[in-house]
Amino acid sequence: MPAKILVVDDDPNVQRLLQYTLKQEGYEVVIASDGAEGFRLWGAEAPDLILLDVMLPKLDGYQVATKIRTEEGTTGHVPIIMLTAEREVEQKVRGLRAGADDYLIKPFHPAELMARIKSLLARFAPHEAMVGRPPLGRVLALYGAKGGVGTTTIAINAAIALHRELGRKVALVDGNLQFGDHRVFLDLGLDKKSIVDIVTAPTIDQDLIRQVMVKHDSGVDLLLAPPSPETAELVTQDHMPIILEQLRTLYDYVLIDIDKRLDDINLGILETADTMFVVMTADLSCLKNVRLVLETIGHLGYSASKVQLVLNRSNAFTGINVKNAEGALKRTIDHQIVNEYRGAISALNSGAPFMFTKADSLLGRSLLDFARVVDKAPAMAAGQPALLRR
Ligand SMILES: Nc1ncnc2c1ncn2[C@@H]1O[C@H](COP(=O)(O)OP(=O)(O)OP(=O)(O)O)[C@@H](O)[C@H]1O
Ligand SMILES: [Mg+2]
Repeated sequence: MPAKILVVDDDPNVQRLLQYTLKQEGYEVVIASDGAEGFRLWGAEAPDLILLDVMLPKLDGYQVATKIRTEEGTTGHVPIIMLTAEREVEQKVRGLRAGADDYLIKPFHPAELMARIKSLLARFAPHEAMVGRPPLGRVLALYGAKGGVGTTTIAINAAIALHRELGRKVALVDGNLQFGDHRVFLDLGLDKKSIVDIVTAPTIDQDLIRQVMVKHDSGVDLLLAPPSPETAELVTQDHMPIILEQLRTLYDYVLIDIDKRLDDINLGILETADTMFVVMTADLSCLKNVRLVLETIGHLGYSASKVQLVLNRSNAFTGINVKNAEGALKRTIDHQIVNEYRGAISALNSGAPFMFTKADSLLGRSLLDFARVVDKAPAMAAGQPALLRR
């Protein structure tokens, strides 16, 4: 059966052009001339994808996308490509926040439109196939060998890549309990629920965890850090393994972002995790910390394969190259992420992760490569008792 595409655009010329181009490619086409009709036809026609103009009579494109996403809830997700005449990044971000999966700036080349349509249809098709299969249940800890090396940046963007590009169901946990950054980096207020809502409940079960997870527009579910440093004390070393084991039963990947402290809470997390990604940069203090961590991990009896080294900003000039770093550590670096300071910092400061708004940037592609390798890695013995996973 050909895929059905709903075109929502009030310009008859655009309607004709899109109808012609899409039919040439073998798609079935349904046309709506205003936002309200677009919303109605989404319900009546159940299209496989929507091309949605921003400037529309009655309801604008953002409103239509928002209404569709609200109505869909968690039961479905029709891919939406926003067609916009506006060039500003802000507008793109607004479109994506409203629930669009991609956007194209008019005028666009038909070949580009077709490529985007195909990629979105492919991205959302595997979801269907995955419905009903048990979650992979892999717990990955992202551990910063030093403050500021980019652990949070990598955790957030790898989570989005695993979900949006690789179709996995992903939970992202902010394990920096006192000074977690996920709320600011993802533009979420202090009113959103956090891990405190879990640890202060009488029993911790799947239903409770489902209620506390915060849905990010990218489709990743978040377990946020406490809203203030004082409340972080409510989370004890016993809580983390219990929460992570529960999350494991609900998601393909549970990514937890933690800092360099090897205290009881972090050790509990590392014990539970299947893989520990040590994030580092190529400088002496980081190399020293990585050496100490590797030694400690050895003393704890974990196998070397549980730990993987991620060199962030790998092509930045520091005077220490990858070979030097590997020599000093007597280990290979497993993953490298490119250095792109402007892309990384502007994404953080705008609250819109680059993997969400600029997946095809250099940094986006580098993170996607990382996510792909992680996703291809043979399944750790997830689900077995932690001791056996060592
Ligand atoms: N690949 C990269 N290229 C360039 N800059 C990067 C890269 N990754 C992260 N950064 C920048 O490094 C800084 C620190 O990033 P981030 O907050 O993710 O690090 P962190 O290790 O989580 O820090 P903290 O110790 O505060 O938790 C940010 O300014 C970010 O933009
Ligand atoms: Mg951080």
